Amino acid sequence: MTARVAIIGAGPSGMAQLRAFESARTAGRPVPEVVCFEKQADWGGQWNYSWRTGTDEYGEPVHSSMYRNLWSNGPKEALEFADYTFDEHFGRPISSYPPRVVLWDYINGRVEKAGVRKYMRFSTVVRWVQYDAATELFTVTVEDLKTGQTESSDFTHVIVGSGHFSFPNVPDFPGIETFPGALCHAHDFRGAEALAGKDVLLIGASYSAEDIGVQAHKMGARSVTFSYRTAPMGFDWPEGLEEQPMVARFDGSVAHFVNGESRRFDAVILCTGYLHHYPFLPSDLALDSPNCLYPAGLYRGVVSEQNDRLFYLGAQDQWFTFNMFDAQAWFVRDVVLGDLELPDAPAQRADMDSWLARAAAADTKADQIRFQADYIRDLIELTDYPMFDLDRVVEHFLGWVQDKYADILTYRDVAYPSVLTGTMATVHHTPWLHELDDSLERYLSTPGADEREARPLHVASDSR
Ligand SMILES: Cc1cc2nc3c(=O)[nH]c(=O)nc-3n(C[C@H](O)[C@H](O)[C@H](O)COP(=O)(O)OP(=O)(O)OC[C@H]3O[C@@H](n4cnc5c(N)ncnc54)[C@H](O)[C@@H]3O)c2cc1C
Ligand SMILES: NC(=O)c1ccc[n+]([C@@H]2O[C@H](COP(=O)([O-])OP(=O)(O)OC[C@H]3O[C@@H](n4cnc5c(N)ncnc54)[C@H](OP(=O)(O)O)[C@@H]3O)[C@@H](O)[C@H]2O)c1
Repeated sequence: MTARVAIIGAGPSGMAQLRAFESARTAGRPVPEVVCFEKQADWGGQWNYSWRTGTDEYGEPVHSSMYRNLWSNGPKEALEFADYTFDEHFGRPISSYPPRVVLWDYINGRVEKAGVRKYMRFSTVVRWVQYDAATELFTVTVEDLKTGQTESSDFTHVIVGSGHFSFPNVPDFPGIETFPGALCHAHDFRGAEALAGKDVLLIGASYSAEDIGVQAHKMGARSVTFSYRTAPMGFDWPEGLEEQPMVARFDGSVAHFVNGESRRFDAVILCTGYLHHYPFLPSDLALDSPNCLYPAGLYRGVVSEQNDRLFYLGAQDQWFTFNMFDAQAWFVRDVVLGDLELPDAPAQRADMDSWLARAAAADTKADQIRFQADYIRDLIELTDYPMFDLDRVVEHFLGWVQDKYADILTYRDVAYPSVLTGTMATVHHTPWLHELDDSLERYLSTPGADEREARPLHVASDSR
């Protein structure tokens, strides 16, 4: 059988893969048939926001974990595509931390320009992938969610881009069943407006806890408490936000922490992360990993050790995002096209072991950021993806970390220059803390000073 490639999922990773194949095709290289299955009605993955929680209109688990008022949590200059800049898309400088819808517009712009919609099968969920060692083919069974019809067809290569921040990790806590208030996982959180005037507990000490906590504060929560398992986030929290160690038990609306303190809460949000979960893959092909910098069993972070025609994109914990997915997608493309040869299994293992050892030694945030930059550089050097100044991006990330420690409520107002075009970001017309309209129209508008000042906050508070 001639090469035939299935891409599972059209989030930023799957979109990068489509773009990678198309760039080879337009350069005159022979490219196999590519089909991308996406269970949602449009692409964008996490960035394709859904108001739904639980299951969608077809009874499928809702994919996106994003909330209405989510803004980029890192400077956009750290994720910019090397082959499609923000300047090219927006035609003018914008701020460093755009809202969700603006980033969706950017990633959508690149693939619309590339004209890759024709490879998409939207509203089509991959149900099962079976590998036949005799024929060396994958049989991919999908369901068209609109018609309910299932069908199977064979592929020589499968590229998994289904994401790993979609199936919530939901630990149990003693007595939590007695909690009478609002209780959910971050995956089901859609907006903080209802938290105004409430005492809110967030369990977890990573990005979801941090950002939902400051969202809750922005929307007027009376108090926000973060409960950490390993270490506190340690920001200089404004009045009304505090960190406590792990919850030992709940007793109705009261949470007792392991340090003996207790507080009463109206709402609890479990910000306890996500599971790598691939319900469409048999266990011998499914990646089994915690959320980490270098999942074991993936050569160059993408090629399955179990089967070198099975690839995973974006399976890492993510400092870098869109440009890392690009580096991976270009590498995978060249392996599929036969332009890059994979070493034998022992050599792959030795390579993985050296990266794993380095990842294990990356203790600090700076070490982890540099590790991921080196990983990306290593991939880009093998392909024709445009190299960009990764050291400069590392500096941006280190600056971003400092900005957050300086003021967790204002770090999104800082501007960074593009490492690709040199364009300096603008300062958004309204400080993030005071901006309650996350729409593209509002973001790209230039409101007068009167209008900016007149925009009311939901609940005024001294800390603002
Ligand atoms: C709450 C939240 C906020 C984030 N904020 C940021 C941020 O500010 N900046 C940043 O750079 N990154 C952020 N991220 C990281 C995010 O993971 C990446 O930006 C990016 O979305 C990952 O792309 P992906 O394509 O690998 O996965 P996803 O975006 O998760 O896309 C996977 C796609 O696969 C589809 N799919 C899954 N299973 C199947 C199936 N069986 N059949 C067919 N299709 C399937 C899904 O519908 C989805 O479209 C955030 C993540 C979360 C959860
Ligand atoms: N744009 C934004 O503002 C934004 C907002 C939210 C999320 N995100 C993105 O979403 C992704 C996922 O972030 P995340 O914070 O959801 O997940 P995460 O980074 O994997 O962190 C999970 C957190 O849950 C804690 N945890 C796990 N199991 C626990 C248990 N049994 N008991 C107590 N605590 C437990 C972990 O504690 P330990 O530290 O002890 O392991 C960790 O603090 C990231 O890529 C992030 O960038 C972005």
